Amino acid sequence: MQIHSRITDLRAALKTRGRIVFVPTMGNLHAGHISLMTQARAHGDTVVASIFVNRLQFGPNEDFDKYPRTFEADCEKLAAAGVDVLFAPTEADLYPEPQEYAVEPPAIQHMLDGEFRPGHFRGVATVVLKLFNIVQPDVALFGKKDYQQLMVIRNMTRQLALPIEIVGGETVRAEDGLALSSRNGYLSADERREAVRLSVELRRIRDAIRAGSTDFAGLEQAAVAALDGAGWKTDYVAVRQQSDLHPPSGASAALVVLAASRLGSTRLIDNIEV
Ligand code: PAJ
Repeated sequence: MQIHSRITDLRAALKTRGRIVFVPTMGNLHAGHISLMTQARAHGDTVVASIFVNRLQFGPNEDFDKYPRTFEADCEKLAAAGVDVLFAPTEADLYPEPQEYAVEPPAIQHMLDGEFRPGHFRGVATVVLKLFNIVQPDVALFGKKDYQQLMVIRNMTRQLALPIEIVGGETVRAEDGLALSSRNGYLSADERREAVRLSVELRRIRDAIRAGSTDFAGLEQAAVAALDGAGWKTDYVAVRQQSDLHPPSGASAALVVLAASRLGSTRLIDNIEV
C-alpha cells in the first residue's frame, strides 16, 4: 500500500490507475470502515482511502482534540483489506491557508444532527468536495451509519454534477447490535453495556411501524422516555422519509428512524431503515 501526505504526490500516483474508488475516513478504523474498503474493491481498479480528522466539521466544544488518532494500526488494517493507496494529509497539506471557500448545504444541514451540531455538515461537505477534487474518484463509498451525511453528499454530488457515483454501505454492528463507531471507545464498561439500548429502541420503532403503527410521535416519545429514563440525554428520535429526511407525508413513503443521544459525555448516533 502506498501512503501519500502531499496532494501533488497523490495526484502523480493516481495518474495511471484506471477506475478509482474512494473511501474517506477520519481514521481509528473499525470493521465498519473496513467493510467499505472491501466493498470498494468490486467497484473499480484502484482503492484509495483517506485518513484526515477534519477540524472544519467539529464544533468548538466537540471532541476534535481528543478524537482517537491510531495511524499505525489503521495502516495495517487498510493494507490487510487490500487498499492500494492511502492519502493521509496533515492539516498543513489540506488547509495550507484558511479554508474560506466552503460548500453551504441547503436546509438539510440544519435538521436532525445539524440542529445539534451547527456547521457540521458544511464542514463535511467542504472537506469531501476538496477530497473529491484531489482524488478525482469514479466511485466513492459512505456508510449508512451516517445517514444524513450520506444524503448531503449524494445531493451535493448530483446538484454540482460531479462525475462520481456515490455508493452507500450498510451499517456494521457489534454482536449486541450497537453500531460500530470510533466514539464507542469513549464509553466506560458500564456505558458500553448500556449503549445497546439505542439500537434496541430504534428496532422497537421499526417493528411497530412494520406492524402497522402510524403514531410516529408516540413512538418517538416512548423511545426518548426509555433512553432518558436509563440515564441518556437524547437530542432526537425521529421517524423520517428516506428520500429527503422530512417527516412522513404520505402512507407509502419509505421510512428511516434516526436518533442521537448522549451517554455520559459520549454522543452516539444510529438509524434503521423500515
Ligand atoms: P468516519 O466517521 O471516520 O467514517 C468514515 C466512513 O465510515 C463514513 O462513510 C461512515 O459512514 C462509515 N462508517 C462509520 N461507522 C460505520 C459502521 N458502523 N458501518 C458502516 N459504515 C460506517 O464520516 C466521516 O469519517 C467523516 O465525516 C468524513 C466523511 C471522512 C469527512 O471528514
